Amino acid sequence: MCGIVGYVGEHNPKDVLIDGLKKLEYRGYDSSGIALRSNETVQVIKSTGRISDLEEKINNTKLINSNLGIAHTRWATHGEANEINAHPHKVGRVTLVHNGIIENATELKNTLVNEGIVFRSETDTEVAAAVINKCYDGNPIKTITEAIKLLKGSYAFGIIFENSDKLYAVRKDSPLIVGISDTEKYIASDITAIVKYTNKYVLLEDNEIAELSTKDAKFYKNGEEIEKKIEQSTTKIEDANKGSYKHFMLKEIMEEPLVLQRTLNKYINNMDKIFDVSKYEEIHIVACGSALYAGMIGKYLFEEKANIRCITECASEYRYNKVIYDRKTLVIIVSQSGETADTIAAMRKAHEEGIDTLAIVNVKTSTIAREAKHTMFIEAGPEIAVATTKAYLLQVAMFSLLALKAANIKGLENNYEEVIKEARRLPNLVKKVLNDHDKFEEVGKELLDAKDAFYIGRGIDFAICKEGSLKLKEVSYVHSDAYEAGELKHGTISLIEDNIPVFAVITNEKIKDKTESNVIEVESRQARVYTITNDGSITNHHYKYVVEKISDYFQPILVVPPLQLIGYYTANERNLDIDKPRNLAKSVTVE
Ligand code: F6R
Repeated sequence: MCGIVGYVGEHNPKDVLIDGLKKLEYRGYDSSGIALRSNETVQVIKSTGRISDLEEKINNTKLINSNLGIAHTRWATHGEANEINAHPHKVGRVTLVHNGIIENATELKNTLVNEGIVFRSETDTEVAAAVINKCYDGNPIKTITEAIKLLKGSYAFGIIFENSDKLYAVRKDSPLIVGISDTEKYIASDITAIVKYTNKYVLLEDNEIAELSTKDAKFYKNGEEIEKKIEQSTTKIEDANKGSYKHFMLKEIMEEPLVLQRTLNKYINNMDKIFDVSKYEEIHIVACGSALYAGMIGKYLFEEKANIRCITECASEYRYNKVIYDRKTLVIIVSQSGETADTIAAMRKAHEEGIDTLAIVNVKTSTIAREAKHTMFIEAGPEIAVATTKAYLLQVAMFSLLALKAANIKGLENNYEEVIKEARRLPNLVKKVLNDHDKFEEVGKELLDAKDAFYIGRGIDFAICKEGSLKLKEVSYVHSDAYEAGELKHGTISLIEDNIPVFAVITNEKIKDKTESNVIEVESRQARVYTITNDGSITNHHYKYVVEKISDYFQPILVVPPLQLIGYYTANERNLDIDKPRNLAKSVTVE
């Protein structure tokens, strides 16, 4: 959601900025822009639509000779997606790009309007630029230090002052890193935007200010200079490229065996690294979207296997609902990006109540990774497609391991060694499923004209259905819904009509007959039933795909990839922009 790149160095920034913006496209955006500075002149170029539209505009413009610039992709929040609202915003001597939301923008704007400032856009960013310009006293560090005292909300700013040849940056509750090389300095929303040029970076903490020039990177907090550690990223250039794949989504699904191997190796060979949840009486799993659905699988495993009471709730509700913490409770926060605004707020709510938090997170530099009391990192590497796939699968794997360890500690698991052995086979088993990709492509073809679809399952299979349904709708725009199989006939079955696709997930032996009878109910109403199961004996409906039957701790890990591929191939048949579905952003940094 919104992306920032900035450059100061020996070269013209244009190529670095455009290249960086392209790498940040995955975050979701609807307009973009750049600002270049030279000899007290700042040139701003903006465009709606794709980065290629901005690039065309830049190529048709006579550019100033510059070595300092900032650039931005905007996902509209305050005001529609048009050129005026696109960033950068220039007010007086200040030019700004911004991620986040200034919560007191309206109040500040009213004051500034009364003072005679004329605003062109509807954005909170222009208000922030005006506030910084108002504070400007010739000393950029002092100016920014004073200005941020007036701003409420979240921000990552890249700032150019007309009469300074340095690049400035500051952040609060919104990600921003500073990239370092000998003769060039960068700012970026994440390392993928600049990894082509450097893998050395500095992580800015809240309200720390970076002052960057070709040779120097200096950092300040509350007006005082501070020391910052230079970190080395393990992200590789290949991680930010599609390689031979048509889409990142497909590439990332196909990487699942590899990332599973990496994550399982890290934890299975050292079970001490797995957090012990057995000492808690209640677990709350809080997250958004797919991360929440991974948590729903976790809930079943914690309750069934480790006998620990567990609730799941989406973070946007949890943060505002009354939560009763009357038992020894652990709040598990799940997030790929570690920057989802509602999830961060839910985590902080738990902290305010003195509750322990464990974060299952992918991005190690993220806010959630840094603030959670305990963390378990999944090793997915950068996930570029907006729709999560490999990170979701690893979140599920993490819950399997947490539940297994807790069940073992509580003496509830008699087959511990066998289950561990099975875990080691998982990467190969997933590879076998992915090798059947043409079978799922066939389903995608059959869904070419589908307008609606349903997913049904019971227990843990229902949790899997939630993710299968989300994957289909978000990338292919086929309306779909997931139901507890027994719940459909309490109303929704009226929507079942001739040829409507219904996906049935049946892996749970205890209740497979029950789900089967629900399948027959929809089939009797002419639904086209696609079954994904671990039981070859189940009746052949319209379509059946059978995965190997393995320990229930890990069974979902084999069932989800077919559903991910069906979502992908359905969208591919429709020639959609799979990696950047309409209206979606990769990391949702606003409420
Ligand atoms: C769906 C998807 C989203 C995310 C959700 C949480 O494919 O990617 O539903 O799972 O926005 O994001 P994170 O995990 O970054 O907190």
